[in-house]
Amino acid sequence: MPTKNLLCLTLGAAGASRTATQLDALLPGWELCKAASLRDASRVLRSRALSVGLLLLECEEAAGAAAALAGLDAFLRQHHQLHWIAVCHRALLQSEAWRVLVREHCSDFHTWPLDGGRLLHTVGHALGLAALRAAPVPAPAPALPQQSPLIGQTPALRRLHGQIARVAPADAAVLIWGESGTGKELVAQAIHARSGAAGGPFVAVNCAAIAPSLAQSELFGYVRGAFTGAAQDRRGLLESADGGTIFLDEIGDLPLELQANLLRFLQEKCVLRVGGTRSVPVNARVIAASHVDLEAAVARGAFRQDLYYRLNVLSLQVPALRERKDDLPLLADHFFVQFAAERAPRIRGYSGAALAAMRRYHWPGNVRELINRVRRALIMAEGRLIQPADLGLDGEAAPDGCEPLGGVRVRAERQAIEVGLGLGKSMTQVAEDLGVSRMTLYRLMAKHGISHPARARGAGS
Ligand SMILES: Nc1ncnc2c1ncn2[C@@H]1O[C@H](COP(=O)(O)OP(=O)(O)OP(=O)(O)O)[C@@H](O)[C@H]1O
Ligand SMILES: [Mg+2]
Repeated sequence: MPTKNLLCLTLGAAGASRTATQLDALLPGWELCKAASLRDASRVLRSRALSVGLLLLECEEAAGAAAALAGLDAFLRQHHQLHWIAVCHRALLQSEAWRVLVREHCSDFHTWPLDGGRLLHTVGHALGLAALRAAPVPAPAPALPQQSPLIGQTPALRRLHGQIARVAPADAAVLIWGESGTGKELVAQAIHARSGAAGGPFVAVNCAAIAPSLAQSELFGYVRGAFTGAAQDRRGLLESADGGTIFLDEIGDLPLELQANLLRFLQEKCVLRVGGTRSVPVNARVIAASHVDLEAAVARGAFRQDLYYRLNVLSLQVPALRERKDDLPLLADHFFVQFAAERAPRIRGYSGAALAAMRRYHWPGNVRELINRVRRALIMAEGRLIQPADLGLDGEAAPDGCEPLGGVRVRAERQAIEVGLGLGKSMTQVAEDLGVSRMTLYRLMAKHGISHPARARGAGS
């Protein structure tokens, strides 16, 4: 039986609240933790684990209470885990702003004169729901390092944590493999954080995003006068990682001539700025990542074999999300909390159907796709619980097992584009998130018959 206690927050009372006093009689068997301001209530919630909140709004006029709205809304957002029940005057609900606040934050409301029987029933119901929803106490998980940015408890993720711990103290280069969006950069950060270079900088470079013509000077820096526009000496990204770690993402996209320079850097630990004559010693740990098969790139002649061997001294594979589906609820909850500011406060979590749909889905875009779908659901969901449709997973989820890859690829491509466009970003940003050029994005939209979001909105209005 959960303990029958609740927070009783009274706002807008001139003098002592008569209702708060009446409540002791109306709610026999309940312990009322009373607070007369948001600050009092925060103090109570810091010291007590309560799951039901009674919000007594004693002000009779919406106009007089307007100033309290914003502060109360922020407070209720912060304490969304409580089941809130409002008690207010009918007149207050004439105001749209107050109606929205009650609708968004409260699971029920009462108006004066109070019906004691119904109130007793409502608080009991709220406590029951809270008990149902309370997460089971998680088993202690001693193997995972504290405060790891990598969320997950599956054996695959624990193995990865073990590998991170082993390679971190070594000085050699590390190569991280994994599909797009699996968390390669997070792994690189975790290695850096546990290495001897943790106090130094972590410099991340996306090799696919630097223009080939600028790559040399971006990575190695230049001296004044090296080319038109080089008005003064400038150090490159490798130099700025001195004493720390340089993370070379999408290393497979590094132009061949730069691969030779990088190899020299790995061997000699020195950089020569463009136009310079003097090598500068740089002590930076190199971590590289790739989602393409570098061995195949070596076989094609697109990647230098000697550089591949040099980078591949220590290699880690980040598992795809579909290989660790037991981590889905944990990850989904993590992003639900992380992006809480973007959601309507009424949304309490995921429905069982949504969790089941996530489990059935293949996640071609891995954790990044999960983030995008959760953010979209936080904006789109109309009910209190996120449904499969809010995640864009209604009827689209492929069953576990084998199915022709052609169809899977086409569907994954279309879904990734729809999720990206659904976030309301600019086309340039969406293209960047998807890792394609704007032209390619337009071409893919035409191929899948997806209309331009701004034009689609315009057509509807
Ligand atoms: N295990 C995890 N726990 C929490 N967040 C994660 C996890 N894995 C990935 N993420 C998040 O997912 C997003 C994508 O991760 P990241 O950029 O590290 O992937 P990536 O493998 O480098 O992708 P790409 O190949 O596209 O560069 C980031 O926002 C990251 O914080
Ligand atoms: Mg990356």
